[in-house]
Amino acid sequence: MKQLSVDHLTGIVDLTRQDIELILETAARFKEVINRPIKKVPSLRDITIANVFFENSTRTRLSFELAQKRLSADVVNFSAAGSSVKKGETLVDTVNNILAMKVDMVVMRHPNPGAAKFLSQKIKARVVNAGDGTHEHPTQALLDAFSIQERLGSVAGKKIVIVGDILHSRVALSNIYCLQKLGAEVMVCGPSTLIPKYISELGVRVSHNLREALEWCDVANMLRIQLERQDIKYFPSLREYSQQFGLDKTLLDSLSKEIVIMHPGPINRGVEISSDVADSPQSIILDQVENGVAVRMAVIYLLAAKIER
Ligand code: CP
Repeated sequence: MKQLSVDHLTGIVDLTRQDIELILETAARFKEVINRPIKKVPSLRDITIANVFFENSTRTRLSFELAQKRLSADVVNFSAAGSSVKKGETLVDTVNNILAMKVDMVVMRHPNPGAAKFLSQKIKARVVNAGDGTHEHPTQALLDAFSIQERLGSVAGKKIVIVGDILHSRVALSNIYCLQKLGAEVMVCGPSTLIPKYISELGVRVSHNLREALEWCDVANMLRIQLERQDIKYFPSLREYSQQFGLDKTLLDSLSKEIVIMHPGPINRGVEISSDVADSPQSIILDQVENGVAVRMAVIYLLAAKIER
């Protein structure tokens, strides 16, 4: 059996192209499984996984839990709200207490960049990063790549623009690493205040003109403005942002070719994307959510193969 080169998934930055391709191939097999009448395989009956969420989540949390249950793993869920974290317990103490209950893998979302990597260096269990602050969201990038491959046949050679709040986005950074490793060209587009100054050093193009960016690309990944991470004003108003960087049907239909529309969610309808674009046949937003389960099954299955049993 082919194996990943890593023992934890803390960021796409650590993966090789071969790792990413192995995850996507494995996800394709699991997508067949979850479309069968019996959507479950017994592969991880001997594994216990803790989902440890210190930040809100809908898609990632449900998707990981479903993926684990489809693999027959035992699952425990922990959220910071209502836990002893509020009484001053450290991250490592919290997780070590969970591990004392014989947990083999920890899936963690945390507001601090680097939290997943830090944890992976402190504990024996496998660690999967479900989003660490503004840093990385590796499984989102993997499911995005899987969805592009499914719709367009491949990622290599495709042009993908990521539009919006790049500065605060973990989805953007993980997508840039993942898409480039698979041979795509990447552009970021948004107001100059929401594009990090160093970004071109990652080999991405930069545009501040949405129409120009959309005319260039095969796929547009529309990101939400992350107001919860903004402590100063980066643009005059949401209305002005929407006028310059929001994608509506008039703009989409006026382009010289048909492009694919993506969004990691949660969507702010009427801000970065209009409802008729989000719900249009060009949108693969719900395919991304569906593919999230198969991709997370693949990640968990491949990391579990590296646990000594
Ligand atoms: N895409 C994503 O991470 O969504 P959630 O915050 O709902 O998990």
